[in-house]
Amino acid sequence: MNTEWFTAQEVIFVSFVCMWRYGRSAYLKKIALTNGVRRMSKKDIEKKVMKTNMQIKTLPMLGPEPMEMALHINGHVSTLLLDPRTSLLDALREHLNLSGTKKGCDQGTCGACTVWVDKRRVLACLTLAITCQGHEVTTIEGLAGETELHPMQRAFLSHDAFQCGYCTPGQIMSAVALLEEGHATNDAEIAEWMSGNICRCAAYPNIRAAIREVRDAKGGSSHEAD
Ligand code: FES
Ligand code: FES
Repeated sequence: MNTEWFTAQEVIFVSFVCMWRYGRSAYLKKIALTNGVRRMSKKDIEKKVMKTNMQIKTLPMLGPEPMEMALHINGHVSTLLLDPRTSLLDALREHLNLSGTKKGCDQGTCGACTVWVDKRRVLACLTLAITCQGHEVTTIEGLAGETELHPMQRAFLSHDAFQCGYCTPGQIMSAVALLEEGHATNDAEIAEWMSGNICRCAAYPNIRAAIREVRDAKGGSSHEAD
C-alpha cells in the first residue's frame, strides 16, 4: 500500500471532522493543509492537527450581535434592536405586532408578504429589515385612512375577492401598486402583473374585478371583464 497516500487519506478524514466542528475557513487558515501533506510525516501532521485544534478551541465565538435600527413604517419611526439578519417580514410581525402582512412561503414565491418600500412593492420575506433604514415602509395597516378604507379594500369587499383571506393583504398592496405602475390596461396585463401573488382559493376573477373597478373609477382604460 502507498503509505504516503494512506497518510493523506487519514489527514483528509481528520480535517473534514475538524472543519465540520470548527468551520472550514478558520481551520484551513490555521493548518495550511494543502501545502504540506506530501512532505510531512504522519507524526508531524498529527502534532500540527492537535496544535491547530487547541488554538481553534481558544478562539472567541464570534457572531452577529443585535443592532439598533430605525424603521420608518406607516408614518411612524420605530427603533428596534435586532439581529441584522432579521427579515422585514419578521420585524413587522414578530417585533412590531403588524401581523397584517402574512407569511406564506417565506421564500419569495407566494406574494403574501407584499409591502411597499418607498411606494414600490417588495417581498418582505426577502428583504432585510436593516436595509429599509432611511426608506418609507407601508404595510396593509397603513393603507386605509383614519376613518375609511382604501378604495381597493372596499372593492375587494364588494367583489368578494377572497375566500380564506390569507393572501388578501398582499393582493391589495400589489393591486394598488399595479394601478400606480400603469399595468392594469386589460385583464391579461392585470393577470401578468399580479402573477406574483398566489391565491390558493383561486379568487382571481373576483380580484381582477375589484382591480378593474378601482381602475375605472380612476379613469383607467379598458372595461374588459372575465
Ligand atoms: S411569504 Fe414572502 S413571498 Fe411568500
Ligand atoms: S383568499 Fe384564500 S388564499 Fe387567497
